[in-house]
Order: sequence, then C-alpha cells, then structure tokens
Amino acid sequence: MIDLPKRAPFITFEGGEGAGKTTQTRQLADRLAAAGIACVVTREPGGSPFAEEIRALLLSGHLPTRGAMADTLLFLAARVDHVTETIKPALEAGQWVISDRFADSTFAYQGAAGGVPRATLAELHRLVLGDFRPDLTITLDLPPEIGLARAGARRQTASGADHFERRELAYHEALRQGFHAIAAAEAARCVLIDASGSPDEVAAHVWAAVEARLLSKVG
Ligand code: TMP
Repeated sequence: MIDLPKRAPFITFEGGEGAGKTTQTRQLADRLAAAGIACVVTREPGGSPFAEEIRALLLSGHLPTRGAMADTLLFLAARVDHVTETIKPALEAGQWVISDRFADSTFAYQGAAGGVPRATLAELHRLVLGDFRPDLTITLDLPPEIGLARAGARRQTASGADHFERRELAYHEALRQGFHAIAAAEAARCVLIDASGSPDEVAAHVWAAVEARLLSKVG
C-alpha cells in the first residue's frame, strides 16, 4: 500500500530500449489532463537546462568508452539538478510530475548491467537525494531483441544509435533482469507491465495501475 505524501504524486516510467516509455509518458499525461489533472512531463537524463547539457555529453555516440562509475556520477549530477530545479518545485506547487526514466535506470544500467555494486548506488542516492523517490514507477518490460529492433526502426540510420543502445545483447539482458529485480524488491512502488502489446493495450494497463495505486487514493 502506498503511503501518499502531502505533495502531488511523482510517477516514473522505466524499462530498456524501445519499450515505449516516451509514448506511454505522453499518453498518460494526456489521459490525466482529460481527467482534469495537469502534469509536468519530463525525462532523464535531462529535464532541466543543466541536466540537458549533461544528457548530450552522456549519450554522444562519439565519445571514448569510460567506466560505469564515471557515468553514474554524471547521471547523478544531472538527477540532482533535475530534482532541485524541475521536479520538486512542480510537486510542491501541486502539479503531478511524470518522468521518462529516473533512478531505477542507474540501478539497472550502471548497476545490474554495468557492474557498480547496488549498495554503492543506494548510498550515493541517499547522500544526494535523501529519501526522495517516486510514488509510482511503471516498468515497461520487453525482451531486449524486440526493444532494440523497435529502437532501431525509430531511426533513419544505425549510426544514430546512442552510447547505451550500442552495447551487446548480454548487456541489455542483464539490465532487463535488473529492472525485474527492482520491481520485485519494491513492489509497493513498482508495477511491471508487459510492453509487447500495441501502444493502446499497454496504455490501458498503465491507466489501470494509476487508477488503482494513485487516483483511488487522492479522490
Ligand atoms: P532514452 O532517453 O532513449 O531512454 O536514453 C537514455 C539512455 O541513457 C538510455 O540508453 C538509458 C541510459 N541511462 C542510463 O544508463 N542511466 C541512467 O541513470 C539513465 C537515466 C539513463
């Protein structure tokens, strides 16, 4: 059972490449708007002017390979600015916030798939963000070969693949397992949704989760 905070709800979408997070983020915002709830839609890495600059650096396909810890610290620098400049001010003003990715991506990509110990990531997040976390996380689940094919089809050329999409299949399988483990360990916050259906089918499952976990409690 979610213990809802006094501020407005904070929802995140998580999942591997091509799972449909961006589409579902928009669809949920539209549906909440139709129900009279205005949302701020944001994303990670990014979501504030400084964090968007870090995003460009992190996702560049042209930079040298570096360790997962260096990436972790950049994602966290972007995250703390995003939370401080965008997310918290909106929540405190009573607006719902939906973010396309948040901290679980670091635990899955840099942790489960990248090798940074979970305890290290947990401690870094505790130092930087305290106990701030989403009220609801929707994790879109898809076999990586399907997700990578969808992500590839979105682009005109394969050379558009970003730094993380270029990793081998084993990396993407490890990060899927990472997302599963987070959803199982934090079942009060996370809902795992099969993303292999059509966007409308997935959106119906997303809406059911938001109704059951949030709307039924805010009245
Ligand atoms: P996306 O906007 O297409 O999801 O791209 C973001 C990429 O950054 C994606 O490959 C996942 C990766 N990423 C991490 O590795 N760690 C993180 O903490 C976040 C937020 C994203």
